[in-house]
Amino acid sequence: MSKAQAVFVCQSCGMTHTKWAGQCSGCLTWNTLVQETFSTPPGGLKPETSKISRLTKLNFETLDTQDEAPARMVTGIEEFDRVCGGGVVPGSAILLAGDPGVGKSTLLLQVTARAAMNGLRVAYISGEEAVEQIRGRALRMGVTKAPVDLAAETSLRTILDALKRDKYDLVVVDSIQTLWSDAIDAAQGSVSQVRACAGELVRLAKKTRTAMILVGHVTKEGQIAGPRVVEHMVDAVLSFEGERGYPFRILRGSKNRFGATDEIGVFEMGDGGLREVPNPSALFLGDNDERSSGSAVFAGIEGSRPVLVEIQALVAPSALGTPRRAVVGWDSGRLAMILAVLESRCGLGFGGKDVYLNVAGGLKINEPAADLAAAMALVSALLDQPLPKASVIFGEISLSGEVRGVSRMEARMKEALKLGFSNAIAPSTALENAPFEVKAYSHLVNAMGAFDMNG
Ligand code: TYD
Ligand code: MG
Repeated sequence: MSKAQAVFVCQSCGMTHTKWAGQCSGCLTWNTLVQETFSTPPGGLKPETSKISRLTKLNFETLDTQDEAPARMVTGIEEFDRVCGGGVVPGSAILLAGDPGVGKSTLLLQVTARAAMNGLRVAYISGEEAVEQIRGRALRMGVTKAPVDLAAETSLRTILDALKRDKYDLVVVDSIQTLWSDAIDAAQGSVSQVRACAGELVRLAKKTRTAMILVGHVTKEGQIAGPRVVEHMVDAVLSFEGERGYPFRILRGSKNRFGATDEIGVFEMGDGGLREVPNPSALFLGDNDERSSGSAVFAGIEGSRPVLVEIQALVAPSALGTPRRAVVGWDSGRLAMILAVLESRCGLGFGGKDVYLNVAGGLKINEPAADLAAAMALVSALLDQPLPKASVIFGEISLSGEVRGVSRMEARMKEALKLGFSNAIAPSTALENAPFEVKAYSHLVNAMGAFDMNG
């Protein structure tokens, strides 16, 4: 018999501690340590014995077919394939993380159905829903013809047995937090279980050259193990995002051993499941042609594609001692920085005023290139003056108030031109190769001049 050992495992980052503490010293989150007992009973999952007795040389004359550059399996859902780097690599493991209810199961059922219709051997294993429920969902989405093998199962051993018996190209396990392994004496959903189950599935994926997609729920509280421990084990991490109340869902790659990580896939959730949005550039613009004060259009780049987004700001007198600063779809630290630059370099006063900044359509913007658009929206709201008509804005702002060039400025402007915009408020370096009029500024103070043209 092996000895059982009590340890405290952080449910967020997976770090183990010998003593309980209020805060995890690894990831600094509070109240996430939970006692778990490890034991490996006789007859439990045996560790794989190593088969490598000799190392292989890197240098070679020709590749033999086994080792060729990864051939990709195209599922047929283009927005998904692109984020994966042009299809799913056989033998790779992918984590799909997202808030509960965002649409992970819906997306993967659609992906597996399409992949199966395209001739891949596909299995969808759900630990959350019964087979009847999955069939009901498939009926609503109109994919009942797809030859996908379904199972409702949470036992890792049963799943491994089934996957060893039948050979699959693509397997979805929904979700990793519902699995349990009898080799681990810890609660279902705990970090030890999640880590052990993910480890076994990833190993099986490599061995059988099956692409394995693991679903992981992200929870704010440490109740269910954060999928962060799985992130280190898999080849790619995709996150599925969406704001409550908006139909748009964005698939974003945050780690990818086989492709670029900055690609996004855009979907729209409807009655019949998710619809692909192959040309998202005008999605996040809002309906109004006539822009009111506080609204600015940012010409952004998401992955390889230009996307135009409306940024809205509201500045209102505060009734509180400490004025509110709220952001949706942007970084609050970045807002604080822009406000500080506007106050100290441009002499504008936001003190005593509540400031709200919102990215329309539920998109989250990470690019510093949005600084100037956010600043212009804020100033427009403060002065209650709309920005010039048909303008798009981009540019990074430094702490000194300098407006700096950003990547792919020409592509941003060309997309704007296509969508009916006639000018840009941009850094001076954007003047080169500009397809239309550019109001170029090298400092934020000068950019305030953009408002005068409005009268
Ligand atoms: P789901 O895929 O179950 O989310 P997750 O697996 O990430 O927890 O999606 C749940 C939501 O999606 C639910 O609120 C209903 C909505 N939905 C639609 O709007 N249309 C549909 O066709 C489907 C299947 C779901
Ligand atoms: Mg689900």
